[in-house]
Amino acid sequence: MTLFRAQTIDTPDDPFSGGVLRADADAGLLVEDGVIVERGAFADLRSRHPDADLVELPDGVLLPGLVDSHVHFPQVRVIGALGMPLLEWLERCALPEEARLAEAGYARAVAGEFVDGLVGAGTTTALVFGSHFAPAVDALFTVAAARGLRITSGLVVSDRMLRADLHTSARRGYDEGRALAERWHGTGRSRYAVTPRFALSCSDDLLASCAQLHGELADGWFTSHLNENLDEIATVGRLFGGGSYLDCYDRHDLVGRRSVLAHDVHPTDVELKRLAEAGASVAHCPTSNSALGSGLFPLNRHLAYGVHVALGTDVGAGTGFSLFKEGLQAYLLQRLRGADGVALTAAHLLHLATAAGARALGLRDQVGDLSVGRRFDAIWVRPRPGTPLDIGMRHAGGPEEALARVFALGTPHDVAQVWIDGVPVGSSG
Ligand code: GUN
Ligand code: ZN
Repeated sequence: MTLFRAQTIDTPDDPFSGGVLRADADAGLLVEDGVIVERGAFADLRSRHPDADLVELPDGVLLPGLVDSHVHFPQVRVIGALGMPLLEWLERCALPEEARLAEAGYARAVAGEFVDGLVGAGTTTALVFGSHFAPAVDALFTVAAARGLRITSGLVVSDRMLRADLHTSARRGYDEGRALAERWHGTGRSRYAVTPRFALSCSDDLLASCAQLHGELADGWFTSHLNENLDEIATVGRLFGGGSYLDCYDRHDLVGRRSVLAHDVHPTDVELKRLAEAGASVAHCPTSNSALGSGLFPLNRHLAYGVHVALGTDVGAGTGFSLFKEGLQAYLLQRLRGADGVALTAAHLLHLATAAGARALGLRDQVGDLSVGRRFDAIWVRPRPGTPLDIGMRHAGGPEEALARVFALGTPHDVAQVWIDGVPVGSSG
């Protein structure tokens, strides 16, 4: 048993439904076999468990491990290409790099860099867009499992309108996906997600093969892109004969509680209603939406319809692995929406970066906050002395102010330690 002593902040109750931030200045968290078994005032827990191993985390703050609900493994080396809209960025930047993952050694190196990027930013759980190449996806699962991350991922499939070397067939996509799922779905903390790239690059035959595999997997996940860019949406409308974007997936029964659709910057009301009714989640990726000029996410309309929203970095269109940066950008985007914007507080941002992602991934009973019964997935945010974040946190008027400063100023350099299931996640060496 290990007793952790820290200042903790988390959001067990959803601030979008009236919940408030939970902050404890001197909390004790007793962890046994990776699970938080007791929580309370440190002095009280210490007196009752004098023999527990003690981990004291002076200064800084302990937060739940961050959850990235949309991030692309093969794009770690192309983060930061600015100045292009989605389709041009894909053609000139992302897809040439993704083609390089055909080479297994290259893919293994990228997998290592990618997982380092997640851990370094304090991300303990992620829904990861894999690669078009099965050995590369296998490499990702292998590296992520070695580091202990909670990863849901899968083979990305497409059969039109990309480069020919990224195309597959319905048969091959199914066979390769099935083999990967048999190896990784439910193995340790890994799970499989059926992953057609986006409707624009997937024929109905291919989506039908995705639906077949999705239907065969117990508790398997579905992820793709939705309504990101106006040119993309117009092309999808032409290709699929004018139905809604969501309908491309929905008519194959791919939209349900275990579906996470990235972006949804330009939804129709009918689509929002359907997403809510299906219990599907939307991964909001604010730095990507800004960098590609995709648009200002209509969070108000998602909330009004009751669509569940989580946060994703969308590396590499997104500008880095930090969910603090995504939270800040989500806040800034809503400010720019004026009267239509949602006034996000630090509590909202933390919730979006933790519990909301856990819920989108069906892991809310396990992670997302630091309550008794949850796995101890946590990060220690401890800025270096004298940095603006250190100064800001020490002079904050209370925990909500301190947390706002973490989102405004925090970077991966400020994540001093990461635990998954109570075990420190080491460096990759
Ligand atoms: N739509 C299809 N592929 C991608 C991708 O790699 N990134 C983003 N942002 N959107 C996409
Ligand atoms: Zn994406």
